[in-house]
Amino acid sequence: MKAARLAKRRAYAPYSGFRVGAALLASDGRIYSGCNIEISTFALTICAERTAIFKAVSEGDRNFKAIAVVSDDPEYTPPCGACRQVLMDLAGNIDFLMVNKAGNVKIMKLNKLLPHAFGQRNLERTRRTKT
Ligand code: THU
Repeated sequence: MKAARLAKRRAYAPYSGFRVGAALLASDGRIYSGCNIEISTFALTICAERTAIFKAVSEGDRNFKAIAVVSDDPEYTPPCGACRQVLMDLAGNIDFLMVNKAGNVKIMKLNKLLPHAFGQRNLERTRRTKT
């Protein structure tokens, strides 16, 4: 949570003003942080969660325990749909810690946030039956 708060300071959010920090805890104890980075063509913006996990995977880490996400919103910040899918694919059913501005935490398993997720196994089934 502390790493996520630090990462939020590096958020680049000139368009929304909504600053987000994330910190992904790997099974080996390493922590990968990330912030949201907004682009003038808005669709190219990347969320803090995806910044963190892409950093981690590109550094060679593939096993994760939890991710903490913090914003300046008094309410908890839930992850967007794209981040749910990316985290499920690359991290599996980890704990998702939502931290509000006051520092209170709400913890949810990722499969609660993304039930009935699409995944690699769906692709494998059709590959086996294809003629
Ligand atoms: N954002 C995140 O970085 N993570 C979330 O969980 C929710 C939304 C960012 C994306 C964009 O820069 C800004 O917040 C407003 O959507």
